[in-house]
Amino acid sequence: MHLDPRDLFDWVRPLRRLASLRLVGRRQVTGIALLTVLAVLFESFSIALLIPVLDYIQADGDVAGLAAEGWLWATLVDGANWLDVPITLASLLLGIFVLVCLRQVTAYARTVYLATVRQRLGQRMSVSLFSSVLASSSQYIRNFNGGSFVFLLGQQVQSANALVYSFANLASLAVTFLAYGAVTFAVAPLPALSGLILGAFALLAASYYVRRARSISRRLVVGGEAWTSFAAERWRAWRLLKMGGMLEREEAEADRLAGRICGLSIGLARVMGRLELALSLFILGAILAALYGAVEFLTVSVSVVTVFVLVALRLAPLLRQFANLRQSIAVQGANLDRMITAFEECRAARERDDGTTEMPSLRRGITFRGVHFAYGDGSIPALNGVDAHIPAGRMTAIVGPSGSGKSTMVDLILRLLSTTSGDILMDDVPIGEIRLRALRGRIALVMQDPILFDASIAENVRYLRQSASLDQVREACRRAHAGEFVEAMPEGYDTVIGEGGTRLSGGQRQRLIIAQALLADPEILILDEPTSALDFESERKVQEVLEALARERTVTIIVISHRPSTVVRADHMIVLNDGHVAETGPPDRLRESNGWFAAMMRLPEDHAPGGSSTPAGALPEKEVAS
Ligand SMILES: Nc1ncnc2c1ncn2[C@@H]1O[C@H](COP(=O)(O)OP(=O)(O)O)[C@@H](O)[C@H]1O
Ligand SMILES: [Mg+2]
Repeated sequence: MHLDPRDLFDWVRPLRRLASLRLVGRRQVTGIALLTVLAVLFESFSIALLIPVLDYIQADGDVAGLAAEGWLWATLVDGANWLDVPITLASLLLGIFVLVCLRQVTAYARTVYLATVRQRLGQRMSVSLFSSVLASSSQYIRNFNGGSFVFLLGQQVQSANALVYSFANLASLAVTFLAYGAVTFAVAPLPALSGLILGAFALLAASYYVRRARSISRRLVVGGEAWTSFAAERWRAWRLLKMGGMLEREEAEADRLAGRICGLSIGLARVMGRLELALSLFILGAILAALYGAVEFLTVSVSVVTVFVLVALRLAPLLRQFANLRQSIAVQGANLDRMITAFEECRAARERDDGTTEMPSLRRGITFRGVHFAYGDGSIPALNGVDAHIPAGRMTAIVGPSGSGKSTMVDLILRLLSTTSGDILMDDVPIGEIRLRALRGRIALVMQDPILFDASIAENVRYLRQSASLDQVREACRRAHAGEFVEAMPEGYDTVIGEGGTRLSGGQRQRLIIAQALLADPEILILDEPTSALDFESERKVQEVLEALARERTVTIIVISHRPSTVVRADHMIVLNDGHVAETGPPDRLRESNGWFAAMMRLPEDHAPGGSSTPAGALPEKEVAS
């Protein structure tokens, strides 16, 4: 076992890291320190005052005699004179009572203040992590597991901010130790010194257990995160899990993951218990050995031996507490480290916004000029030189087999991704020059799986524009052909639709999302596979909505689909294949030509849904990773 005195300060790094977050102010730290010192001082005074009380009783109230005997009593008499109170048994007892009152009040204030600082820290950590993650680039968010997100915001924050308690306790321990240490050094320097050396040695030896606790805690963080991620993922797939036998298999996996946490937690308890055990035995053994040595080999007086034993017994619990605190700090420090890693990752992956101009109101349209894009570290090409024009105020359809790069084009328009090379222009303005907020504020997006919150229909429709009146909500729903079914519901627009809108059909959800998009009054409306998850009837309704909108010619509509039936009414078409534009033009012309679109149109309608509808020999379908 190697001993390194620096190990005694293994709590410094977590303290520094906590401070580096800049979430706890200097004022709070001072406040905690002050209250801690006061609480310890009042306590030691109230205990110390027991000595004069006992003296007083023994001396039968002979204050003058006692004052002549020692400095303690002399000071006491001086103090009493200064306060102008006589020294009687009653006043001495009252003094103790007052000190205990002060101590309890300070302790109360300290408890409340500590809890306040800790909870505020938790609040700030949670909120800043919440917004840091969501402000990151889409690449980062995509790879950031939803379960980890919940794990970090919940359990991790709670464990990490418990550090506030540990450091406060460490401070009060330090004050107590200094106070006791000073007194024992004054009374019996030699035993105090030997106790100090012995204690330091014991604490150094404890470093082994602290290191073990830290390493187990790190694995516990990983295990906890894996467990939450697993649970969150399986929760989303509950339907799939109900398929034959899957529940049993997932239960076994759950048991394995939970078992790992269980095993590690038991291991941690064991390490912490062993430290306690080893330290107690070591201290007792050392005291007895010292006693034996002193009596057998040295001529030491009984009183010195007694004092030595008393000092050792007095300081031993403090040593144990210190060792335990180091261990707790190691555990909580592992949690804090995970949080800080997440913060650092978020900072590195922060979405950049170099835009300065406002979003132009489109007159000509959106132009892709030689746009290349690759996923990963540039090794998975998705767009290979796309040149295309999306005219303003019209409905443009982007079609092509899945994996051809349609959604990538959308993400590039929204600047959720940035082009590897080439330009995307809004009229003449490169989108990189437009402020991110301005750009995204003028685009509404409807995706294949509509995302609704567990709130009323009106609240959901209003999500992008909170200030809209109920009449405006109604109007948007009417345009999205959603008014009819909403009004047929018993509570109409106040109907709460359940998490994810589970109380509605797919088609109803999709039309509500379109209403939400329309209410935001966008310049550009993008629908990415809006009907792919819908039945024929619902698809037709959504098509009707789109056709009506297209006739209005007020908004630039981009509809993406691998199902040409959804988009035959478009004004303009862009056919993508394998990351480049294969054909463009009005649907009628493309239908005449011999390309992918014409081949698709020849297929029977009920063959179209799903991704497997590419005609043989035409364009191959690629695997879709996202
Ligand atoms: N997050 C991602 N990471 C890596 N590759 C991706 C990612 N998203 C999509 N891809 C790949 O990029 C290509 C284009 O994908 P996408 O634009 O989603 O196609 P589409 O929407 O036309 O089905 C596909 O080959 C797909 O595998
Ligand atoms: Mg797609």
